[in-house]
This record gives sequence, structure tokens and C-alpha cells, in this order.
Amino acid sequence: MVDAAGPLDAGERLDAPQLRALQVERLRASLHHAYANVDFYREAFDKAGVHPGDCRTLADLARFPFTTKADLREHYPYGMFAVPRERIRRIHASSGTTGKPTVVGYTESDLSMWSDMVARSIRAAGGRPGDTVHVAYGYGLFTGGLGAHYGAERLGCTVIPASGGMTARQVQLIQDLKPGIIMVTPSYMLTLLDEFERQGVDPRGTSLRVGIFGAEPWTEEMRREIEERFAIDAVDIYGLSEVIGPGVAQECVETKDGLHVWEDHFFPEVVDPVTGEVLPEGEKGELVFTSLTKEALPVIRYRTRDLTRLLPGTARTFRRIEKVTGRSDDMVILRGVNLFPTQIEEIVLRTPGVAPHFQLRLTREGRLDALTVRAEARAGAGPEVRDEAARVITAAVKDGIGVSVAVEIVEPESLERSVGKIKRIVDLRPGSG
Ligand code: DLL
Repeated sequence: MVDAAGPLDAGERLDAPQLRALQVERLRASLHHAYANVDFYREAFDKAGVHPGDCRTLADLARFPFTTKADLREHYPYGMFAVPRERIRRIHASSGTTGKPTVVGYTESDLSMWSDMVARSIRAAGGRPGDTVHVAYGYGLFTGGLGAHYGAERLGCTVIPASGGMTARQVQLIQDLKPGIIMVTPSYMLTLLDEFERQGVDPRGTSLRVGIFGAEPWTEEMRREIEERFAIDAVDIYGLSEVIGPGVAQECVETKDGLHVWEDHFFPEVVDPVTGEVLPEGEKGELVFTSLTKEALPVIRYRTRDLTRLLPGTARTFRRIEKVTGRSDDMVILRGVNLFPTQIEEIVLRTPGVAPHFQLRLTREGRLDALTVRAEARAGAGPEVRDEAARVITAAVKDGIGVSVAVEIVEPESLERSVGKIKRIVDLRPGSG
């Protein structure tokens, strides 16, 4: 079968009943594998009074207990591994904001499956064997760089392993080596944009035709900004270290309508973040993943803290997730109103006179938290334009989100630039560390 996105692999060609049958079979095997080889899962299942044999349908998974990041931390470093250490070929770690990192491991077969999923993702984004792929996700313990790298090689592409940083050189490499595809965080893409302009190179005139952006939330407004400024297609890639890294879900370039979850390997659920109850398709909640084929680190009902909803498949049979626009950890509660940095991104990016760079400063005034949106003026924006921008942002936040914030328009190029995942919130409240 061939469609606009090129030939599909065997997993992508399954129809819905075939996919569900494969998932049940793999789910049962994964539950057995976790139960038989990881003390944590055996104890957790026993405590909940469930056995892998109780899982006969996909709905039965709801009877099994959740796994959290705290569980992985508690069993640092190797306590959640389901195979002897000698079978582990690679370690990655996610830094997290506090305390010990979460260590994840891969067998040879896990690495191969991961490469397949990233190769599938790049193909869905419009990449083809023979393309040159510039990888500007960080290489190292972070899964972005190496994950993208091996996936691009698996697809049959030429890889430029640029990693993050040394921005001037990245621009040079893009001009000289002429990649068609770039894989990078959206925030670092904006840093590259500044550098193109600083060097007097037209970002619309490069060889790039597709950008595969992920590792942090980004909005439709950001997609529009990047697509226009670079004259490329911008598509979303999602993943997390605990599940595998990049390549858990991917947006198809022909539809750009949310990310297809590669459900033949990762089974998604969306649950109510408070009660843990499984929500019906279409309702927004916390995304939960169960790995179906992983050997080294099977995860059962892993709570991602990412907020989204499940939607039916379109360009693929696999279900989609809506663009992940926030994690419960990034939520700011201001006078009882929940606010996500992406809501501010939407507003800042559509406000004339300001650049797509902003920061959120959280302070405490008396007993109340206060938020200052610091947005950068576009070069050449004079005092009147800046005042008007501040007014527009203040009003849009008040009307759209329902809370009052302070807005400061700062000088062009004055906010710190991202080289990887951007940190939007600067927490200056007492006791926030
Ligand atoms: O960020 C893996 C990755 C690398 C994905 C490169 C895509 C591209 P972690 O460092 O473990 O792994 O962080 C995972 O990042 O739970 C989300 O909160 C966030 N995240 C990842 N991709 C997206 C995305 C990698 N496309 C955490 N949209 C996840 C929104 C994302 N958030």
C-alpha cells in the first residue's frame, strides 16, 4: 500500500481489528514479563489483587496499578530492569528537575524497535531514504540526539550529528551540507533563526523542507511562525525516556492534525489525573502508557503527567493524541486559575511588535502568587508599539485565561536563548529553590 506519505511498514498496514488483536497478545506478554522479572511489578500486582492472566481484553488493563516517576526513582538505578544487566546495551537518563535522574535501559531488541519507530516517524514527517537529516537534539544521556540519529540511519538517511549548541556552526553546516530535514526542539529552532538573521542568511532560502520538533510543548502559533520564517513543514514528534525516547507518537505531514501513537508498541490510555479513572476517547486528561514489546524496562500504566486527549486515526489506523500543550508539573495556579505556559505562547506569538521569545516570572506578593510575562520586543519596535503590545497581552490573558498578570516588554535579544528544552518558568517565590 502506498499513500501520500510513501510505503507503510507492516505495523502501519494493520487494520483496526488486526491491531487490537496484536495489542491484546502483546499486552498479555508484557504484563507477564513485568510480573515475572521485576519485583516492583509483582508486589504491586499482588497488592492490587490482579495477575497478568486476568488481562483478557484491552479494557482489563484498567484493573492494573499505575507506575509513576517516583516508582522509577525509588528503584534507582537498575531496580525496574527486567533483564540481567549484561543484556543491557545502552543507558539513557532523564534529568528531571530535582533529585536523582531516572535511568532507563535498552536491550539490543529494544534499540532496534526504537530505531524502527523513529524511522517510521521520520517517514511520516515526509522523510525518505537518501535524505540528509540534521540532528540538533542533544546527544548524550538525553534520548533526543541518539534516538533521532539511529532512527534516521535506520530509514536510510545521511545523518549530521550536530547535537545542541555551537549555534553559529549549525547555521554553517546547514548551508554547506544541505540537509532536507532538521530534528530539534522548537525553541532551539528559534535560536537558529536568530543566528541565520545575524549572519545575514535568508532562513527561507535553505535546503530544509521539513522540521521534526518535539521534547517540549509548542503551539499552533509556534508552528505557523517556524513554517513561515523557514518556509518548511513543521511537524510534531513526541516521546519520553521512560517509554523509549522520541518516536512514541508522530504527526503526519499530510494532515498535521495531532500525533499518531505507534500503538503496536505503546498502548495509550487517558485517565482523570485526580481519580485515575480511564476517560473515554476525546476527553482530556493525563496520558498513560503501557509498553507492549519492551524487554529491558517494561512500563505498565506509566503516568506521563502530560495532558492531552485520544482521537481516532486519520492518516494512519493508529489513534492520535492531540498536541500535548502542557504537563501537570508546568501548571501555574494563580488565584485559583490554572495556567499553562503554552497559553501564554499562543498570545505572545500573535501579538504584533513582540518576538516569539518570552519568559514567565513567578513571584509572591504577600500570600498571593503573581506572574510577570516578560516578552521580547521585535527589533525596531518603538515605545508606542511596545506599550500597545503590553496592553494587548495583558488584556488577552485576562479575557482568555481569566487572570491578571503583569507584562513587561524587554529589549530585543535580552532573554536567554534555548539550546535544548526551554525553561519558560522562572520561579522566584520564597522556598522554590
Ligand atoms: O524529551 C524525548 C524526545 C526527544 C521527544 C526528542 C521528542 C523529541 P524526556 O527528556 O524524557 O524525553 O522528556 C519527556 O518531554 O513527558 C513531555 O512532557 C515532553 N515532550 C516530549 N515531546 C513532546 C512534544 C524526551 N512533542 C517529556 N510535545 C514528555 C510536548 C513533549 N511535550
